[in-house]
Amino acid sequence: MPQATYHFPRGFLWGTATAAHQVEGNNTNNQWWQWEQDGRTNGVSGLACDWWGGGRWREDFDRAAEGGQNAHRLSVEWSRIQPTPDRWDEDALERYRVILRGLKERGMMPMVTLHHFTDPLWVAEQGAWETEAIVPLFERFVRKTIEALKEYCTLWCTINEPTGYALNGYVAGGVGAFPPGKNDLRMAIKVQANLIRAHATAYRAIHQIQPEARAGFAHHYRSIAPQHAWSPLDRFVARNFFSGINLGFPSALATGVMRSPIGSVRIPEAKGTQDYFGFNYYTREYVTFDLLRPGKLFGRNFYRKDAELSDNGFLANEPDGMFEGLKWAVHMFPNLPVIVSENGVECADDHIRPRYSAQHIHQMWRAVNFNWPVKGYFHWSLVDNFEWDQGWKLRFGLWALDVETQKRTKRPSADLYAEICKENALSSEMVQKYCPEVMDKLFPV
Ligand code: BGC
Repeated sequence: MPQATYHFPRGFLWGTATAAHQVEGNNTNNQWWQWEQDGRTNGVSGLACDWWGGGRWREDFDRAAEGGQNAHRLSVEWSRIQPTPDRWDEDALERYRVILRGLKERGMMPMVTLHHFTDPLWVAEQGAWETEAIVPLFERFVRKTIEALKEYCTLWCTINEPTGYALNGYVAGGVGAFPPGKNDLRMAIKVQANLIRAHATAYRAIHQIQPEARAGFAHHYRSIAPQHAWSPLDRFVARNFFSGINLGFPSALATGVMRSPIGSVRIPEAKGTQDYFGFNYYTREYVTFDLLRPGKLFGRNFYRKDAELSDNGFLANEPDGMFEGLKWAVHMFPNLPVIVSENGVECADDHIRPRYSAQHIHQMWRAVNFNWPVKGYFHWSLVDNFEWDQGWKLRFGLWALDVETQKRTKRPSADLYAEICKENALSSEMVQKYCPEVMDKLFPV
């Protein structure tokens, strides 16, 4: 049996990622809570992981620290900090200070996201990101928050998956959509442009207040492949999907022009507004030409027929896409460090997670081994949490959550991840112990 160890560079960040609405509980003042009450999700967030009311972040952070994690990515909830346009909730800011101090005390570096899908109700009522009026509103919130939290954090993520926000809220439509549940591609592009403008403004505000800050955003990279590589029509669809999903936000930050399959928008102030590239990777999709879907750019997307699917078919295990995406990222932004800001899989009984994690971390190691500047990895997620439109159906945690009792139960992949974090490496012994079925893929003889 081969024995080998894939080492990571000293100082590599190992952590998990969470988001306010998904873990805090009782976030009653944002558009997602409303969406849940309207019956648009699979169950409601309710107490979520009870981080806010019950302070259960403490026990979850203890678990993360015991598991060797040296960083944690979380988000702050705008609707708590600014419940109405003219009121700041100083108690909420103080609570976030306590939480961030809690991370530091446990030896974990915080990475704080300022917007992770949720908008305060008062922002949603004004049309949220549909008009440029959002830019100064977001800037005020960002300034206030950075001032309040700068003592505890220097690594900021302005906006999580802005393209996901725009596409899920404005193109998907129907069941499973994100609020506001519209179906309007042009508006999606407008929303994305406003997200970019707000990001650029926030980036400058952050640096003005905290010159040593590192700020970026978290991009959802989706690997896209044509069903038939020989078919020009499938390749045409793949190019459009790739551009719609992967190029909009990044192209604006690289060049000052936001590219989209239906035209480009000049946003010169966005050029160069990131200190690292935040990279979320989950899966790869295949696409084919379908004349009956003009509203979807004549494309139909699906997972490969023989792909291994997650419990509910939400994701396919396609680790090569991780390497492909990192390669794309370092070519798109040659001078920037990359942080894998999310990666994980839904699987309640944990039969896929150990191999999914090991295979993706192996692909990330391949990138590191080329000397590409990948600086950290955040597993999604620490504990099962409220999975947006899918509610409690999808279980992404290293720890399982019983939503009724709030009891946490460790999954085997929490032990695997702890070994990886503590060793700063992925070894053949670990793979042999937790997912021997992929030994020949990760450590071929
Ligand atoms: C989002 C998370 C979400 C995860 C799993 C990411 O796109 O940022 O909030 O829970 O995917 O679906």
